[in-house]
Amino acid sequence: MSLNIAVIVGSLRADSFNARLADALQTLAPGDVEFRRLRIDDLPLYNQDDDDSPPAPVVRLKQGIRDADGLLFVTPEYNRSIPGVLKNALDHASRPYGDSAFPDKPAGIIGVSIGAIGTAVAQQHLRTILAYLDMPTLGQPEAFLKADDVLTGNGGIAEGSREFLQDWMDAYLAWVRHHAG
Ligand code: FNR
Repeated sequence: MSLNIAVIVGSLRADSFNARLADALQTLAPGDVEFRRLRIDDLPLYNQDDDDSPPAPVVRLKQGIRDADGLLFVTPEYNRSIPGVLKNALDHASRPYGDSAFPDKPAGIIGVSIGAIGTAVAQQHLRTILAYLDMPTLGQPEAFLKADDVLTGNGGIAEGSREFLQDWMDAYLAWVRHHAG
């Protein structure tokens, strides 16, 4: 069964390590898996007053999620949590009440940081949010990654991390296939 994976990267930075990781991870999937990165950089700040007339970027984001078999979150950690741009996207796509795009979408969480804890705290916060949004989220293996260890200078995967990331991708895709039924 072919799969369509929607990728949400929690960094807007041009040279984002997490964007590079998201790109590199795609090379570990078989050919029948298509990855589509969903834009979150043009979303306005969420305002509940706009629930009845969502702007075009919000409509596009929700459609991208609905079209996907699974979601892949690749995010940095900001101040021991998820970046505000990611929370903003989650809030947008979860509303209006009763019209969330997220329920039952299988998800995976991975992230890379320059620090030693490798986005561990942000990932735990994101798990809490995704649980509330009713998304079955891959529990194991966890992947707390340090940029120097996993990424090469030209955006590839460092040899020492390839097997681990391959195992992670295999588990993630099996999770999505299981839940996508
Ligand atoms: C950070 N960084 C960071 N790193 C970390 O491991 N734990 C943290 O809590 C934080 N906090 C934090 C806050 C803010 C506002 C910034 C800008 C940065 C450092 C972070 O890991 C580093 O900037 C990464 O390069 C961010 O990911 P991208 O943009 O490269 O994908």
